[in-house]
Amino acid sequence: MKIAVLPGDGIGSEIMAQAVKVLRALAKDGLKLEMEEAPVGGAAYDALGDPLPAATLKLARDADAILFGAVGGWKYDTLPRAKRPEQALLGLRKELGLFANLRPAKVFPELVAASTLRPEVVSGMDILIVRELTGDIYFGQPRGVRKLENGEREGFDTMRYSESEVRRIAHSGFRAAAKRAKKLCSVDKCNVLETSQLWREVVTEVAKEYPGVALSHMYVDNAAMQLLRDPKQFDVIVTGNMFGDILSDEASMLTGSIGMLPSASLDANNKGMYEPIHGSAPDIAGKDLANPLATILSAAMMLRYSFNQDGVAGRIEDAVTKVLARGLRTPDIYSPGTEKVGTVQMGDAVVAAL
Ligand code: IPM
Ligand code: MG
Repeated sequence: MKIAVLPGDGIGSEIMAQAVKVLRALAKDGLKLEMEEAPVGGAAYDALGDPLPAATLKLARDADAILFGAVGGWKYDTLPRAKRPEQALLGLRKELGLFANLRPAKVFPELVAASTLRPEVVSGMDILIVRELTGDIYFGQPRGVRKLENGEREGFDTMRYSESEVRRIAHSGFRAAAKRAKKLCSVDKCNVLETSQLWREVVTEVAKEYPGVALSHMYVDNAAMQLLRDPKQFDVIVTGNMFGDILSDEASMLTGSIGMLPSASLDANNKGMYEPIHGSAPDIAGKDLANPLATILSAAMMLRYSFNQDGVAGRIEDAVTKVLARGLRTPDIYSPGTEKVGTVQMGDAVVAAL
């Protein structure tokens, strides 16, 4: 198993070091894996003038899976768009055809108290957001800032989805739901947007191939509200790139912290890039404050989806549960009565629990 390790910026290198430590511990136990690291994002821009250098893209292409940290930082915010760290992430997704983004939001019983919602609302919640990742307004052309006749500037982006793009992500959603509680909610803005109208039609067509899965549709504004009102009504949510970006951040907070949530971005053959759903958190970078669990859980998803190592993935997840049950908490999930630990200590604890 050849893994490209791309730590990135901000807390990226700190959290990645913990996930690598966990994978090394498993390698000692006989798991055959090879890891190679490369710069990406702002780190790559600083070193090579390009957020996604050709060598990094090649490493990612040649690998069987990619473990990604996070990219971005204040000092890059004023760069031209093509040089910004986020372009590395978007470029990898697009170049590698990673169109299916799976973002599970599951509440660990130990962390119910860390959520800002009442325990009875979130406890037992287990949602999977299937977000389309290579289309929509993120990539639609034309886009830009132009000068109008009256002299003022106008910014514009294009939301677009082809039938085949909707169809393949709908299949990802239905397949995922079929393996879970068999409920799929497709989220769109069909009351306003043409793109969403087509989205809804295509998803409804695909549903005929999955008679065992109950399909429902919801407008995105309502979905944002329902996620807070009664998150347990959802099993799998399938949605477009931008709605999925927003709803998955919202869903993450139901679980207590965005620092807990892993994700998988898969191509048509289940080759994948695995990353925490949180960002580079420059405000806490280098302070040993970041929660490495989302990255460690991303490594578990990698073993499960790209390498068919369900058993080993389960071992990592169990180790995380054990560490939480012992009361260890990084600051983002700390509550009185638990033990506050740093990034490194949390990683060590997971390795010890393995
Ligand atoms: C995410 C992030 C990215 C996105 C950014 C960093 C480009 O927010 O993975 O959710 O918008 O997709
Ligand atoms: Mg996001």
